[in-house]
Amino acid sequence: MDNFEFESPTHFAFGRESERRTGALVKAFGGSKALLHFGGGSVKASGVYDKVVASLDEAGVGFVPLGGVRPNPREALIREGIDLVRREKIDFVLAVGGGSVIDSAKAIAFGALYEGDFRDYTFGKDCKKPPVVPAALPIGAVLTIAAAGSEGSANCIVSLEPDNLKRTITGDKLRPRFAVMNPEFTFTLPPYQTACGLVDIFAHVVERYFTPTRDVMATDELCEALMRTVVAESAVVMRDPADYPARANIMWAGTLAHNNVCGVGRAQDWASHGIEHELSALYDCAHGAGLAVVMPAWMEFVMPADVGRFARFAEKVWGVASGDPASMAKEGLARYRAWIKSLGMPTTLAELGARSEDIPLLAANLGLRDGQTLGAFRPLTTADVEAILRLCALKGNR
Ligand code: NZQ
Ligand code: ZN
Repeated sequence: MDNFEFESPTHFAFGRESERRTGALVKAFGGSKALLHFGGGSVKASGVYDKVVASLDEAGVGFVPLGGVRPNPREALIREGIDLVRREKIDFVLAVGGGSVIDSAKAIAFGALYEGDFRDYTFGKDCKKPPVVPAALPIGAVLTIAAAGSEGSANCIVSLEPDNLKRTITGDKLRPRFAVMNPEFTFTLPPYQTACGLVDIFAHVVERYFTPTRDVMATDELCEALMRTVVAESAVVMRDPADYPARANIMWAGTLAHNNVCGVGRAQDWASHGIEHELSALYDCAHGAGLAVVMPAWMEFVMPADVGRFARFAEKVWGVASGDPASMAKEGLARYRAWIKSLGMPTTLAELGARSEDIPLLAANLGLRDGQTLGAFRPLTTADVEAILRLCALKGNR
């Protein structure tokens, strides 16, 4: 196991009616006037918005609303939020929604305190390690979809315009001070969004599980438990969207998958996420749907680097009980693909609305140069990324 430092300071209020705690938690973490940030309207339709406002009112916390965050959150609204926070002397940023809203809130919370342009802290362009965010206003999240894990993570992912690039800003200061997580809030999700979330949660574990680091049994076993949980509960929620225990298990698994408790002490991969972010940047597809296409192709491509790891994944996660390592590994990947298909997710670039002709552009947008590679399990060159994207273009659920 590698050395590590890990800080996960988020206070979690989980369960039915936990949203009643929102106002008190904003206050407890130093907020007197909050930016109330939300998306395209689902929180108003579901009544979540009114419940949060009631809690803020009860606690005597003032707020200024800013809605309109789109999935794959855009730079323009972030800039509007930064101006609003400065103008209105706001001291807390409260996100009510999913990963896109929380990420937009994080970028605003950082950008409002930073004197330069928040783009200075985006990872990507020249593929240098980004500077770590030095400070941000306190952030809180009321989560409405189990997916991105941003409620407990140290990152935000923003879409830069007009470049059509999706880039990461990172730093522990971006971890929300609190997250309110009422699984009932996810009952209203359309099946497609539920499925995108399931694929994303699973992918966050995969990015950590497939590692060149040895002797990490504690976190390996945690990863496997999380993946099995997501698969088992996926069948329940796709059948009954209002099954509370299944929604609750998925919601908490989503946080554990990405607050890094299962990823410490090991090299992590993140190649599939890097490739997917270029897809959702260019085509504005859902992040989970992009991963449904990219991650199996990545697995197919990198499997020869460590067949034994894939055989273990097959056995521990998919219950493949016998066979030689190579055939077990292949069977595990086949079952993973079948699961993705069973959720109604796309399996090819074309189903995502992506064009094979754009493969060189997508790979180039990752910005790898001067011998740089992507990922840790099997470091990838630009040519490797193109090969993976060509696998994504193949028809059928191989
Ligand atoms: O905008 P509204 O109307 O709220 O609708 C949203 C949106 O259309 C809808 N929705 C959310 N909760 C709902 C609901 N509809 C009905 N009932 C509810 N309870 O779902 C749609 C998708 O929302 P979004 O926030 O985009 O989903 P998700 O949580 O999957 O977030 C995706 C974003 O997170 C980034 C992705 O790249 C993408 O931009 N990620 C962030 C990470 C992080 N910060 O650590 C890590 C992830 O790997 C990921 O990259
Ligand atoms: Zn993700």
